[in-house]
Formats: sequence, C-alpha cells, structure tokens
Amino acid sequence: MNQSTRAHWSGRIAFILAAAGSAIGLGNIWKFPYITGENGGGAFVLIYLACVAVVGLPILLAEVYIGQKARRNAVEAFELTHKTGTYWRVPGWLGLASAFLILSFYSVVGGWILDFEFRSIINEFGGKSANEIKGTLTSLFTNWPRQLFWHTVFMSLTVAIVLGGVKDGLERWNKILMPALLALLALLLVRVMFLPGFGQAMSFLFSPDTSKLKAAGILEAVGHSFFTLSLGMGALITYGSYLKKKESLPKIVIAVAFIDTAIALVAGIVIFSIVYSFNMAPGAGPGLILVTLPTLFSQMAGGYIISVAFFLLVSFAALTSAVSILETMVAYWTESHNVDRKKSALIVGVVIYLLGLLSVFSTNLLNSPQFKMFAGTLLSKNGLTFFDLFDKLTSSYFLPIGGLLIALFFGWILGEKAIKEATKSDNKLLNKGLLWSARIVAPGAVLDVLLNLVFEWSVLRWLFGMVFG
Ligand code: PHE
Repeated sequence: MNQSTRAHWSGRIAFILAAAGSAIGLGNIWKFPYITGENGGGAFVLIYLACVAVVGLPILLAEVYIGQKARRNAVEAFELTHKTGTYWRVPGWLGLASAFLILSFYSVVGGWILDFEFRSIINEFGGKSANEIKGTLTSLFTNWPRQLFWHTVFMSLTVAIVLGGVKDGLERWNKILMPALLALLALLLVRVMFLPGFGQAMSFLFSPDTSKLKAAGILEAVGHSFFTLSLGMGALITYGSYLKKKESLPKIVIAVAFIDTAIALVAGIVIFSIVYSFNMAPGAGPGLILVTLPTLFSQMAGGYIISVAFFLLVSFAALTSAVSILETMVAYWTESHNVDRKKSALIVGVVIYLLGLLSVFSTNLLNSPQFKMFAGTLLSKNGLTFFDLFDKLTSSYFLPIGGLLIALFFGWILGEKAIKEATKSDNKLLNKGLLWSARIVAPGAVLDVLLNLVFEWSVLRWLFGMVFG
C-alpha cells in the first residue's frame, strides 16, 4: 500500500479504543484469573501489576511510537526508524512467530466462548448446579468436533473483519461494545460484593504470600503483563502505524494500560468471589471462568440475559484482540511482499487455522502422556500439550524477549530524541525516566526473571524477599 493512501484511525479516541480493543480480550477475562488461581494469588498479582507499570508502560510507548513514526508494519518499522537491513528487525520476525502461535490457540479459546454463548442462548445453564456445569465443560473439552466447529467460526470471523479493513470494521463496534463490557463487569462486581466469598477473594488476590510463588510463576506473571497489553509482538507497532503523527502518546498509553488492568482485576474479583462462595478450586486451570461464571448466572436474577450479554461481549473482546494479531501479519505480507491484502488475510488465516487443530486436539485426542512434550525442562515439569506449549512459549519467552529487544532499540538506538518526540514534552524527569527504563529497567527486569528461572536466584526475588519475606 502506498504511504499516502494508508488507512488511519479517525483520531485519538478511535486509536485508544482500537489499542484497548487489542489489549482487552481473553487475556484479561479468561487467562488472568486462571493463571492467578494456579499461582496462588496475591504475590503473582503484585508482580503482574508491578510489571505493567515498570516494564509494560515504557514498551507500550515504544511500540506505538515506532509504528507511528515509521508508518509501516512491525518488521519494516525497525528499518524505517533506523536503517535498511538492520538486525533490529529480529524482534519483528520474532513477533510474527508469536502471532502465528498465539492466534492458533487464541482462536480455540475464542471458540469455547462462542460455544458458551450458544449454550447461554438456548438456556442450557438455567438452574444447573456447579457440578453439572463442570460436566458441560468437560464434555466440550473431550468433544473435538464441537471445538473444531467453533474454532472454524471464530477464525472465519477474524479473517472477515480483517478483510473488511481494521478501521471501519472496528471503530464503529468498539465504541458501543467496549463500554458495554465495562458496564457489565461493573454490574457483576457489585453483585459479587454480596456473595459470602467476596472477602476471601479479595484477600486471595491482594495479600501477597511469596511462599506460593515459584520461579516459573514469576516468569508467568511477567509474561502475562506482555500478553495482556498485546506487547512484544508488534501488534501495537502495527496499530500505531495507523495513528496520525500529531497525536501525543503518553496519555494514550496510560489510558490503555489502565483500562486493561482494571478489567483484569475486576474479572479476577468476580471470578474468585464465585470460587470461594461455591467451594470451587482456584487452581482449576483453563476452564476456570467457564465453570464459575455460568454457576453465578444460573442462580442470579436476570441471569439468562446477563449470561447471553456476557459471553457475547467477551466474544467481541476476543475478536478485537484476534484481529490485531492477524492484522500484524497481514500488514507485513501486504507491505513487504506486495501480496494482495485479501490474499494474505486468507492464506495466513488458513495456516493459523490448521495450526489451531493442534490446540483443538490438546484436550482430547492428543491429551495423553505419549503426546505431552517437554517434561522436565524449563517449560514444564510434567509435560505439555500443544495448547500449553504454544501459550507458554509465547507468553513466557517470545513476548518478553521481543519486548526486551524493542525496549533496547527504543532506549539505545533511537534514544533521547525519539523519547522527546514520543512524549511531546520537555519534562526532564519524564524523559530521562523513560530513557533509563527503556535502556536498563525494563530489559533488566525481563533478564532478571529469566535468570531466576535458570539459576533460581535473581535481584528482584532477593529484593522481594527483603520487603515481604
Ligand atoms: N492482549 C490480548 C488479550 O489480552 C491478546 C494479545 C496478545 C493480542 C498479543 C495481541 C498481541 O487477550
């Protein structure tokens, strides 16, 4: 596409909505609660929050800036802001690899949500007990044709939206459905405040107990701060590339990170209130939200409508994130290889769809010891299904490493001038603070956490132990 005819967002609010649309998704509502549950709560949440603030924000700013400046896709943006052929394209390529892997399992989980939307519409959960709902979930996991069907639907919708063009397709719906999701979550929050397990949920989430957190859990918290903010993969470079040059960035990125975090925390409070009110297990794994929420809906006044609305809005949130992942790849193939936009969306969509089959089969055909991989490695002690593998590999390794490289590129290669341009401010404290967090703090934190995993010793852990130990 020619630079001058390149699509762009209609303005600042539209960009905030699009970036928030990318950030807010299954990561907040499905993944955050379940990995928090698996990792013992408070300490995990604290690390995640610290990472969003200290590591996430500067990288978020860096990505949007690089995209906005280069007005180009996630690989070439590094060349255009630096020089042609630079090895700094590596984070761009790593990002494409992440995008493939993430979207392949993301679409399968998106499919689970669509399935639950369907079951809500036909009122399958009305009057059911927690145990019966658990049975429904187990039957979905073991029923691969049903998962395949919904994976097909989810991936087709994603491709269709990308074909329609990100700007028109998303802008209109984002404006209505995102605030609706916020409102519904607020309503659920008020509702769970009256549940008996609310207090226990709050202390589970907000009182850190470091003894419950292992090195892999710390890495998972750091990785999740990348996943949930759509960082380290070039999605926000791509979205930033459709942002007009005159928009200033710091307020935008703070707004996006703030909404994203607020949604995750509210989702967490809602879900753990249900967990503790109905005697469920916090560490139930990837099916956590699919057991807890329908249990609440089935007993709540207006539960039918709320359930239908909820799964609809979450499906939409998941789609807007999936679209940003696909768009990252499509922008690259259309711009760098002159492939027609339609053709690249279709081809990439099909390849990811096929890769997704491995995740579809992960809860049934391939869920056996013979097919579990990487037992006894840094990735897993007990063996991983493809689904777990793609998730862990990207969230815990590819995204943080991509983010680390982007931070270094921003801090050391583009440096002070770029930071001033990005903040559009002369505030020395802000600019210097950002410069050194891009140069040292953000990459240092990621390295430290990896160090911790390998050697079981790290600076952060030591500090954490001093403060809370
Ligand atoms: N941030 C999205 C979510 O929380 C997922 C995502 C990851 C989107 C990486 C784009 C890039 O659901």
